[in-house]
Amino acid sequence: MSTKPIGIFDSGVGGTSIWKEIHKLLPNENTIYLADSINAPYGPKGKNTIIDLSIKNTDFLLDKGAKLIVVACNTATTSAIDYLRNHYDIPFIGIEPAIKPAALKTQTGAIGILATKGTLSSELFSRTSSLFASNIKVIEQNGDGIVELIESGKLYSNEMKALLLTYLKPMIEANIDYLVLGCTHYPYLIPLLIDLTPNNIKIIDSGAAVAKQCKAILEKYRLINNLNSVANFEFYTTGSSNVLASLVNENVVIQKI
Ligand code: DGL
Repeated sequence: MSTKPIGIFDSGVGGTSIWKEIHKLLPNENTIYLADSINAPYGPKGKNTIIDLSIKNTDFLLDKGAKLIVVACNTATTSAIDYLRNHYDIPFIGIEPAIKPAALKTQTGAIGILATKGTLSSELFSRTSSLFASNIKVIEQNGDGIVELIESGKLYSNEMKALLLTYLKPMIEANIDYLVLGCTHYPYLIPLLIDLTPNNIKIIDSGAAVAKQCKAILEKYRLINNLNSVANFEFYTTGSSNVLASLVNENVVIQKI
């Protein structure tokens, strides 16, 4: 048993979608969230840069006493999780696009994946894709510009709508019935995506699966916090705190680093 916090980082505010799932499933756990918004987006950056940024984020969370780290970023997971697991002595949980459930459930034989360039071009993504989705049509779409709009507080903007319409068009034309969200910023788009897609398209993301995996790993290493006290949250950002505060919806203090 450990009362030490779970550390969570993302290239920005998107990983709060994962933080919410973790908090829902593990309400006793203390958490520390780091949004590296000054360096967002990670998607177009090279693998080595993403590894360097992930090391910095990890060191920050370890300094704050994290017992386990959730890499709440698909792009950082695909580029850096192997490095982190090989160089640090604590458990890491990563996140990948949920291709497998979509590929198993599709009735139309076509699924869409919206993710960053970094994730779509990664080895991990092509391995998972060829393992589970080689018999179906996969429409991949690089979500260029979406993270930037969310980070600048333009989630429900006309610009965002126009961008999403362009990105969804080839998927709708290909008759997809599952849309996989491969970036932790994207669950915040769900209300917009529901409006912009036909009713038969189901939208899936990996947030709940990450929280379940986090619980399983805490149990495996006997790190679960069994104390029934009110959980403590710490939020840090390398960028501006307004957007982060608006997404967290809790009375938390956001500290700028
Ligand atoms: N939330 C990150 C992800 O899941 C966004 C990546 C980016 O900063 O480009 O991939």
